[in-house]
Amino acid sequence: MKRLGVNIDHIATIRNIRGGVEPEPALAALIAQQAGADSIVAHLREDRRHINERDVNILKDVVKVKFNLEMSIAPEIVKIACKLKPGQATLVPEKRREITTEGGLDVVKHKRRISKALSRLSKAGIEVSLFIDPEKIQIKEAADIGAGIVELHTGRYAEAKKDSAREKELLNLIFAAESAKKSGLRVCAGHGLNYFNVGPVAGIKEVEELNIGYSIVCRASIVGFEEAVKSMKRLCKGIYDA
Ligand code: PXP
Repeated sequence: MKRLGVNIDHIATIRNIRGGVEPEPALAALIAQQAGADSIVAHLREDRRHINERDVNILKDVVKVKFNLEMSIAPEIVKIACKLKPGQATLVPEKRREITTEGGLDVVKHKRRISKALSRLSKAGIEVSLFIDPEKIQIKEAADIGAGIVELHTGRYAEAKKDSAREKELLNLIFAAESAKKSGLRVCAGHGLNYFNVGPVAGIKEVEELNIGYSIVCRASIVGFEEAVKSMKRLCKGIYDA
C-alpha cells in the first residue's frame, strides 16, 4: 500500500485570489489527516503566491502526520526551513513565471548548490527528498550527494496525450524507481497525478509515497475535502472504485 501525501497549496491559492481568510489551509490539512493522508505537503514559494510563513508555522504546529515542506534551494528559504524543522523537506526547482513546478531538479548542473542546501537541512535534523526527472543520471547524482529520498516527477507521464507515449513514460518511471531503489534511495512520485491516471503509478513496487495536490483540491470543490482525500487514498491502496 502506498502512502498518500496531500498537497494543500491550492487551498491557499483559492484563499489568496480575493485576499480573504477562507479556505483555511490548516483546516484542510487537519481534514486530510483525519481522512487518511499520510503526510501533508505545502510549498513555500519564494514569491509566496499561495502558502506563506503564517501557514507553515501553523501547519508545523497542528499537523501530526509527516509535514513535508516543498521548497527551493534559495538560502532565504533554507534558513526558514532550518528554523521551522518540518519532518521532511522536498527540494524542487522554482521559476517565477511557471504556473506550477515544471521539471525536476537538475542535480548534475546544480550539484554543489543542492548539496549545500541538503547538508544544511540534514544538519537541522530534517529528512531531505530531491524532486527529479526519472532519469538515470539524476538518480546517480542524487545518491552521490547523499539524498535519502527522491521524488520522481510524473509530469511527462501525466501529460502524455497518446496511450503509447503514456506507456513509454510509465516504463521510464518503473526503470527509474528500480534504479533509485538499487542505489539505496527511498522512492516517492508525484505531479499531475489524478483519479484517472494514478493507478499504474501506484502499482510501481518501489514507490512508497504519492504526492498529490491539484486534482484532490479540484474534486474537493464538488464533493468536499474529506471525501476527495478518502477516494484518492482508496486508489493508493489499489481499490478502483473512486
Ligand atoms: N510533488 C511536487 C514535488 C510538486 O512540486 C507538486 C506540485 O506542487 C506535486 C507533487 C503535486 O502536484 P499536483 O498539484 O499536480 O498534484
